[in-house]
Amino acid sequence: MRPACRLSSELLDYLTPMVQPGISTLELNDAAEEWTQQHGAISAPLGYPGPKGAIDFPKSICTSINEVVCHGIPNKKDILQSGDIVNIDVTPLLNSYHGDSSRTFLVGEVSPQARRLVEVTQKAMWKGIEAVKVGGRIGDIGAAIQEYAEAEGFSVVRDFVGHGVHRIFHAEPQIPHYGVRGKGKKIRPGMVFTIEPMLNEGTYDVELLADQWTAVTKDRKLSAQFEHTLAVTKAGVEVLTYLPTAVVA
Ligand code: MF3
Ligand code: CO
Ligand code: CO
Repeated sequence: MRPACRLSSELLDYLTPMVQPGISTLELNDAAEEWTQQHGAISAPLGYPGPKGAIDFPKSICTSINEVVCHGIPNKKDILQSGDIVNIDVTPLLNSYHGDSSRTFLVGEVSPQARRLVEVTQKAMWKGIEAVKVGGRIGDIGAAIQEYAEAEGFSVVRDFVGHGVHRIFHAEPQIPHYGVRGKGKKIRPGMVFTIEPMLNEGTYDVELLADQWTAVTKDRKLSAQFEHTLAVTKAGVEVLTYLPTAVVA
């Protein structure tokens, strides 16, 4: 898992300087695809099976702008503008292991409220990570995230959760980003999973667009997300997609 997760962080670092007004999300996608291939990996999202009735995911990364909660599909018509926030979610598959990580970027000059949403979301992810303790419970993670997010006046998306990840992209256990301390499965060494909270400016309700992938806030207010993959070991928690040299944690 370590090399795959390191690669996901390096890919996000590679994309970071390109996240500027005027670039299309398709250009970001194509740069990510080329970089991933050059590094001997496969873009796991490309062709990922959709739910019944939906197409397989058609691109290599997810790009989710403003009211898009997650699973935005890169498109030549989606051109970043100053004031946007955009989440880029990458999952290189390297030597049969998945490294799953995402960050939300501020494009040009953004409003103070948008910046605060992004900062609180990132901090909420770290509060969730800090709640991971051997012998603790999965519910401890969501409780820590929810408590902080709601105290800051934001809501936590219910419809998408973190997940076990290894040779399988979306494995057990599910990691809700809301919940009750002391509830849920016990956290034990050997577990590898993501924590990837989505926080909304308005209510937590989401809906799917007609493409059956793009999830947007029902009230069309902003949503932000950050994601790390981490491993629980006897020694503690290792945040596999975190490199101290990363441009953004
Ligand atoms: N990377 C996303 C996650 O964090 C999943 C994307 S699946 C896709 O779980 F098919 F939309 F790419
Ligand atoms: Co992801
Ligand atoms: Co994930």
